[in-house]
Amino acid sequence: MNKTYKIMTYGCQMNENDSEKISGMLKAMGYTKTEDEKTAGVVVFNTCSVRENADVRVFGNLGAFKSYKKTNPEMVLAVCGCMMQQPHIVEEIKTKNPQVDIVFGTHNIHRFPELLTKHLTSDERVFEIFEDDDGLVENLPVDRRYPFKSYVSIMKGCNNFCTYCIVPYTRGREVSRPHENIIAEIKALAADGCLEVTLLGQNVNSYGNDRQDDYHFADLLRDVNAIPGLQRVRFMTSHPKDFSDEVIDAIAECDKVCPAIHLAVQSGCTAVLKAMHRGYTKEHIIALVQKIRSRIPEAAITTDIIVGFPGETEADLEDTLDVVRACAFDAAFSFIYSKRTGTPAAVMENQIPDDVKHQRLNKLLACLHEIGADRNAVYQDRDVSVLVEGTSKHNPGRLTGRTKNGKLVNFDGNPESVGTIVTVHIDEAKTFSLDGRQV
Ligand code: SAH
Ligand code: SF4
Ligand code: F3S
Repeated sequence: MNKTYKIMTYGCQMNENDSEKISGMLKAMGYTKTEDEKTAGVVVFNTCSVRENADVRVFGNLGAFKSYKKTNPEMVLAVCGCMMQQPHIVEEIKTKNPQVDIVFGTHNIHRFPELLTKHLTSDERVFEIFEDDDGLVENLPVDRRYPFKSYVSIMKGCNNFCTYCIVPYTRGREVSRPHENIIAEIKALAADGCLEVTLLGQNVNSYGNDRQDDYHFADLLRDVNAIPGLQRVRFMTSHPKDFSDEVIDAIAECDKVCPAIHLAVQSGCTAVLKAMHRGYTKEHIIALVQKIRSRIPEAAITTDIIVGFPGETEADLEDTLDVVRACAFDAAFSFIYSKRTGTPAAVMENQIPDDVKHQRLNKLLACLHEIGADRNAVYQDRDVSVLVEGTSKHNPGRLTGRTKNGKLVNFDGNPESVGTIVTVHIDEAKTFSLDGRQV
């Protein structure tokens, strides 16, 4: 029997974290990892549905497996993740993608070993999707990608129902993990040599709101900060409506908590924000960012922005550009609004034509890049501390890593410093990264 596997992961850190668990379960079943999806015994697609092109990519890549399975008939093809929580997608897998053997969703990844065994013993296609959680499953084996840094999910799901977004439908309601379990997990990671953790949630600032113990995100940051051995604590994503003064104080006061804040604003126009159901205004964003910058001067603040939301006007886009300039974001992911079936915005009137969306994206990008370059320029000729994450494929003496506030640094250095924190002198500050040499 071919006991090798390959996992193809699409989407966000939640999916990467889930894939590490799927990998952990497969290893526990005696499987070993391979890089070649054509010859693997088990292939898992962990899918994302956040924008239409994510769906299109997955279906495109799945198509190739019709022929791979002809040359490798033993192969088991499993598909999971956010796409599978939508009935119309599962239907398409059922009817048009017979090469897929197993389908499961985001709420039952812990059931994968059982589903795999069921398929292997019956040779039937296995479909199992849960509509929502059947409780938190703790302590799944995790096959971590890096020994020195790790994702730690602190909550799952989302209750915000932003009108454009599919995530609340694919990930279910917000459930925070008990803080004792999170702390225990991070203590074990730190004892194992892990230097950096990234606390994950769709909206980390609302951590604990669904629990009765009056323990919130600021409390968690302080307790994680106290864990011996750990060097850096990151977290994402922050939602502007729930960013409390307690959290700002905790970031400012905790030496290990990185001043890297991914504050997804989505738009700078109050009317658009209202239609998006985001729960804050243009003025709130600007005041919040000013407060963060004055309390935490070294903070790098990054964001997500959507252009072309239904009904957005040129004047609305100007509001967004105002906010980008007033907040001086260090960097941003910007997206063209994509219609998601089943979300309120998909049936709103005044959908924006594609060419207009593209023009607006270009305008936004020009503005973001200018500001990003300015924000990086201050690092020119300075020494920064970098957690070294790896070497360049083409040149092992060329290393890459991140500063405490999240800046990407490429530099010449000792390959043996991968997995440690080193000092780098910055020779050239670029728009998207910093270039330098280890000192
Ligand atoms: N929970 C996070 C974001 C998760 S999705 C938050 O609220 O910030 C990641 C990003 O994808 C979002 O921030 C948003 O900018 C973008 N996004 C989500 N749905 C989208 C859609 N329908 N079209 C375009 N971009 C979208
Ligand atoms: Fe989507 Fe909004 Fe939830 Fe983020 S907060 S996952 S954008 S619904
Ligand atoms: Fe995509 Fe699901 Fe993440 S839709 S962005 S993988 S939560």
